[in-house]
Amino acid sequence: MPQLLLGQTFSFIGNPWQMPPEAAVRHIRRGAVLVENGKISAVGEAAALKVAHPQAQITDHGSSLIMAGFVDCHAHFPQTAIIASWGKRLIDWLNTYTFPEESRFGDAEYARRVAETYLDLNLSNGITTACAYCTIHPESVEAYFEAAQARGLRMLGGKVMMDRNAPETLRDTAQSGYDDSKALLTKWHGKGRLSYTITPRFAPTSTPEQLEATGALWAEHPECLMQTHLSEQHEELAWVQALFPDQPDYLAVYEHFGLLGPGAVMGHAIYLSDREWDALRDAGASIAHCPTSNAFIGSGLFHATRAHAAGIRTGLATDVGGGSSFSMLRTMASAYEIGQLRGDALHPAQLLYMATVGSAEALHIGAHVGNLEAGFDADIVVLNLTSTPVISQRVAEAESLWEALFPTIMLGDDRAIKAVYIAGKRHFT
Ligand code: GUN
Ligand code: ZN
Repeated sequence: MPQLLLGQTFSFIGNPWQMPPEAAVRHIRRGAVLVENGKISAVGEAAALKVAHPQAQITDHGSSLIMAGFVDCHAHFPQTAIIASWGKRLIDWLNTYTFPEESRFGDAEYARRVAETYLDLNLSNGITTACAYCTIHPESVEAYFEAAQARGLRMLGGKVMMDRNAPETLRDTAQSGYDDSKALLTKWHGKGRLSYTITPRFAPTSTPEQLEATGALWAEHPECLMQTHLSEQHEELAWVQALFPDQPDYLAVYEHFGLLGPGAVMGHAIYLSDREWDALRDAGASIAHCPTSNAFIGSGLFHATRAHAAGIRTGLATDVGGGSSFSMLRTMASAYEIGQLRGDALHPAQLLYMATVGSAEALHIGAHVGNLEAGFDADIVVLNLTSTPVISQRVAEAESLWEALFPTIMLGDDRAIKAVYIAGKRHFT
């Protein structure tokens, strides 16, 4: 039976990074979304859609805001249990907290439990799609995709490959990394709503042989995305330079091994030379902006305005558990703060765009999710714009949509997530 969701509707009709931000949005105060067979079939005025579809089952969300579910374009599901671990910078943080925790994911039962917790935390924060790193263990990938499948989610992810500079228990080899990834890719890519992502962790944890094998795997499977980390911290840049002395910069390492192309999703990308910016743009690669992580691990200030000016597809990401929040609202707030520290006051439309359309395009699924538009999957979030006392008193004085929305972006959390729909089905947490 068709469903009509009533509320304020929010859709992008343009890119707020390339036009006046307010002109990029279609906002209907008394709007409605018609959902049929898991897809959005219309977005419009509530009165008109009610008349045109008298048989539809109505759910009235009052003055809450109906928009596309959030898309997190870079996260590490196995780091769920170590989120908010204190006091380290990237390399120490990996060695002290991350690698010991990731070592546990050869245990299929543990992997299943954490995958379920991770996806349920995502959903309670309105994240309906994510692209996640698993661990080196095939069990972790099986657990992740099985849990995603059970929830009907559109999810992307893949087995981490690393064959050096990690504990013995967390190393694969160039050959086993290739073989395991290929087997998992063959099993999971395109199964229902799932997509496999080829996942070399980052240059320092792979030998040249592994990067070479990974480049070969990607050349054999260009239908898959490839995700990795790029230029996150100064110490990491120096390490890459020492490990790959023949390469002029960090990105050149990936280029050399065939790991730069339109399907590449580069996490962080904070410290880029002009050459690297140009090479990313020319390759058509995407960037995952991870602001809470960049602040939490002390990495630095991503240049969102430059990325968008270059026309690079740029999405927003929690980077759980280097990132310090599962909330895409908190993540947008952090992106705003990093913009301010750079001297750029990002408009709320630009923040919301990165968290939805931007991430979806970065992951090459922008024709399916990330916007509230006819033909898109009915992956929807309903935001309560008065979820706490401090937000409510602020909104009471609001004179525009943006004044009503920005307090929820800056101050909101999972209490603002009133409802989530996955392919048109309401998800109850
Ligand atoms: N670089 C390599 N691995 C990681 C990781 O797990 N998290 C972050 N933030 N950076 C990384
Ligand atoms: Zn990461």
